[in-house]
Amino acid sequence: MIYLDNAATSWPKPKEVLHAMTDFMEYSGGNPGRSGHRLSISAARIVFNTRELVTELFHVSDPQKVIFTANVTQALNLALGGLLKPGDRVVTTSLEHNSVMRPLRALEMEGLRLTVVQCGADGRLDLESLRAAVTQGTRMVVVTHASNVIGTILPIQEIATIAHQAGALLLVDSAQTAGVIPIDQPALGIDLLAFTGHKGLCGPTGTGGLVIGERVDIANFEPLIRGGTGSRSEFEQQPEMLPDKFESGTPNSVGIAGLGAGIRWVLSRGIAEIGAHENKVKEALIAGLLNIPGVIVYGPKPSEMTAVVSCRVKNMRVSDVGLQLDDNHGILCRVGLHCAPAAHKTIGTFPEGTIRLAPGIFTSLDDISVVVKALEKISVDHD
Ligand code: ALA
Repeated sequence: MIYLDNAATSWPKPKEVLHAMTDFMEYSGGNPGRSGHRLSISAARIVFNTRELVTELFHVSDPQKVIFTANVTQALNLALGGLLKPGDRVVTTSLEHNSVMRPLRALEMEGLRLTVVQCGADGRLDLESLRAAVTQGTRMVVVTHASNVIGTILPIQEIATIAHQAGALLLVDSAQTAGVIPIDQPALGIDLLAFTGHKGLCGPTGTGGLVIGERVDIANFEPLIRGGTGSRSEFEQQPEMLPDKFESGTPNSVGIAGLGAGIRWVLSRGIAEIGAHENKVKEALIAGLLNIPGVIVYGPKPSEMTAVVSCRVKNMRVSDVGLQLDDNHGILCRVGLHCAPAAHKTIGTFPEGTIRLAPGIFTSLDDISVVVKALEKISVDHD
């Protein structure tokens, strides 16, 4: 089996992640921050340790401003729903995933003024178009760090400058980049960084978070849900202290234990080394696909994208190709719209979508040769 669906979730996970999770269940299974006994304290230590690892990963200083969520979608919803009010102006791009588009469209129904900047067919964002859209007083600019359809990497630092000049906050969706591209949140000017734990960070599903930067006014930031935090239990009102204000209910401690192990693994392996490996296999994959006359490859230049490659076999339905790859060749990928209809409209592949091939740190060049041969056979057999 060759797993090429790392853009949906990374697989396999490093053994360390599995061990951290079973160890947590066996030796630290208490509820963190809720009780004073040893299992609760042990669990709280592990959760806090993961918070510290997130600060190390993104070069931020305050672990209390790392808010754990169930996934990046929840982190994005927290930032959008918690900070935006009817009448606010928000600018985003036509590359965004529905985790950004759907909450924004819902807020638009309540009076949010939304501008979607159209990207090019290769997913490139024209900074002058963005600058024109981000007028003075814009409340927030929301962008993906890299497209989950064609991998295009957006120029975050330049986008931050444009956002800040207009007085806007910058929210970045790092679902496809955390753990694969180095992210220095303060240096890049990211005010709100939403991340997932189960892709490039090699953790389990059910983990993610929002890292809140210095420029965000916590007092005017509403939580998504309210409830028990283990702190200030004498009050019926939600505490203002962080991270408790935004983290009600028992957390996914076992997942967070696994996420900590995943981040530790990524940091010890080195994000630059992981990125270099993924770039090598991505380039081999694109070169191989471009040699097949019956295959169309989408996206920007390989140097401007992550290891997320979209293609189509001419005159074939993407679902048929996906099925053949799985059934006849043991190659697993995701076909269709990838929860990003706007991105597919941008590249001209809506409503059919594409075949998305997303190698990861465990994909080898031999795997890529097999994949290229398989697609060549599928394309030739169909002709
Ligand atoms: N957002 C994930 C993907 O692109 C699940 O497949």
